[in-house]
Amino acid sequence: MAVLVTGGAGFIGSHTCVELQQAGYDVVVLDNLSNASEVSLQRVEAITGKKVKFYKGDIADRKILQEIFDNEKIDSCIHFAGLKAVGESVEKPWEYYNNNISGTLTLVDVMRKNNCKNIIFSSSSTVYGTPKEVPVTEQTPKGTCTNPYGWTKWMLEQILSDLYVADNEWNVILLRYFNPIGAHKSGTMGEDPSGIPNNLMPYITQVAVGKRPELGVFGDDYDTPDGTGVRDYIHVVDLADGHVKALKKIEENAGLKIYNLGTGTGYSVLDIVKNFEEATGVKIPYSIKPRRAGDIAKNYADASLAKEELGWVAKNGIKEMCEDSWRWQKNNPNGYEG
Ligand code: WQD
Repeated sequence: MAVLVTGGAGFIGSHTCVELQQAGYDVVVLDNLSNASEVSLQRVEAITGKKVKFYKGDIADRKILQEIFDNEKIDSCIHFAGLKAVGESVEKPWEYYNNNISGTLTLVDVMRKNNCKNIIFSSSSTVYGTPKEVPVTEQTPKGTCTNPYGWTKWMLEQILSDLYVADNEWNVILLRYFNPIGAHKSGTMGEDPSGIPNNLMPYITQVAVGKRPELGVFGDDYDTPDGTGVRDYIHVVDLADGHVKALKKIEENAGLKIYNLGTGTGYSVLDIVKNFEEATGVKIPYSIKPRRAGDIAKNYADASLAKEELGWVAKNGIKEMCEDSWRWQKNNPNGYEG
């Protein structure tokens, strides 16, 4: 039996393919490569020594989905595919709702028609909105999102939960990721954003490699120890491992479950700059800029439920995250383009 990994060529998806194959699972990837490179899958194969079965196509395309179910023995799906740029989602809400929501509705419809009712969904800490208190637990009420990207995660959580309520044959695990950074230890796989990076760590590594002159720190007047935003950064390989653990939970007929995947520790933007400099010996020039629209002061996870129920904990600390992000960027200054 195999796992269908939608969006498997992307940053988190490709790292998850490595961990799945190393745990003995067969992997089938569906990716439209709109924001990913097939090279990532070659790197997966080089690390694991196993083939990744790849279908180039869209989750909204019933024909290719049915072809996959006809050709492969799929018994579960890890669903990463989706648009994910926060700023872009404000400019193109229709595209975000259409891709992420309609796409997922099509995917789960084809799944159930083929009697495959096991899904792990990439959700996000963004569903908490602006939490009143941190750390957030899975009991913390969902909040108001500040952008369509966040709302698609919020709504898809509801949609998949309702699907389970109506049909208990489903197993649905919603994984709320905090801020994934880091890269595979080999230095051959990592995050490869197109254009100017939106997220902190890829911006820092591009400054470090000389592609950008300095980091802009978005606001230093938040209610946090040093005034800059605090987040829960998690190593992408730990995050990937969380999916393997979730798959094992599904094999026990989990029903509907929600887990935070974070480390439980918050770091500010300036903490990250300092840790990166210490871990790599590379200086990161920065200047303070105005706050970025939609940002919140702080968010970090209480990840104890994932520990209790999945036996999962994040093993890598901030030093490893910085070292591994840097190794990838230094070895691949232009990402998968070479
Ligand atoms: C982290 C901190 C910024 C860039 C968003 C989404 C989330 C997830 C990841 C995506 C903040 C500061 C950043 C820069 C900066 N989804 N920063 N200068 O905002 O926590 O989360 O991206 O797939 O759903 O909401 O992550 O990495 O953008 O920012 O000062 O150039 O770094 O203000 O405090 P964020 P981030």
